[in-house]
Amino acid sequence: MHIKSAEFIMSNSNVAKCPKSMLPEYAFIGRSNVGKSSLINMITGRKSLAKTSGRPGKTQLINHFLINKNWHLVDLPGYGYARVSKSAKKTFQKFITEYLALREQLVSAFVLVDIRHQPQTIDLEFMQWLGENNVPFSIIFTKADKLKPNAIKRHVEDYQNVLLETWETMPNYFITSSSMSMGKEELLHYIDELNVNMERI
Ligand code: GTP
Ligand code: MG
Repeated sequence: MHIKSAEFIMSNSNVAKCPKSMLPEYAFIGRSNVGKSSLINMITGRKSLAKTSGRPGKTQLINHFLINKNWHLVDLPGYGYARVSKSAKKTFQKFITEYLALREQLVSAFVLVDIRHQPQTIDLEFMQWLGENNVPFSIIFTKADKLKPNAIKRHVEDYQNVLLETWETMPNYFITSSSMSMGKEELLHYIDELNVNMERI
């Protein structure tokens, strides 16, 4: 898919105030600092469309971007940010779960995980929550530039093995690096296919 236009639409913390249009929507979710906003900039080819930061907790609201005038990409705040209290860390911010559970336009969520780390409980719990709430999702491994190809393969296999302890099949996954533009075509192609399927319904 070629990105002809990408524009910021609005930020808010209330699912009821999100755009009313029924355009298909995709949301990036994951731990703070995993690279959600950077990935939005990478796949749209717009350097500072979504605000990024080296300090976790940069994105605080639900941010809607309109792509090619026919689908929405959503940047969500991260979970598991150390500066919030332990109990708040466990219960994912209410407006995020409300958005994911209630937003009819959401075709798929993408759970971002840092490819360097072993599977983290909070990510596994989050995927569990998505499953229980019937929210379709894929996994996006981020920061692949930080590992050599062999290590990438090993880390993905380790992740797969842990997931297969609770899931019957491994969710779709993508290996990406925002700094190297890795995984861009695969991800856009996947979204394009889902968009086409939505048009058929
Ligand atoms: P919050 O909004 O705080 O939840 O974070 P986020 O998930 O949106 O992360 P963000 O995109 O702001 O990136 C966090 C940090 O990781 C920044 O310093 C980015 O430059 C860095 N980063 C993001 N993607 C990559 C990547 O693919 N490779 C490398 N090496 N660094 C990355
Ligand atoms: Mg962000």
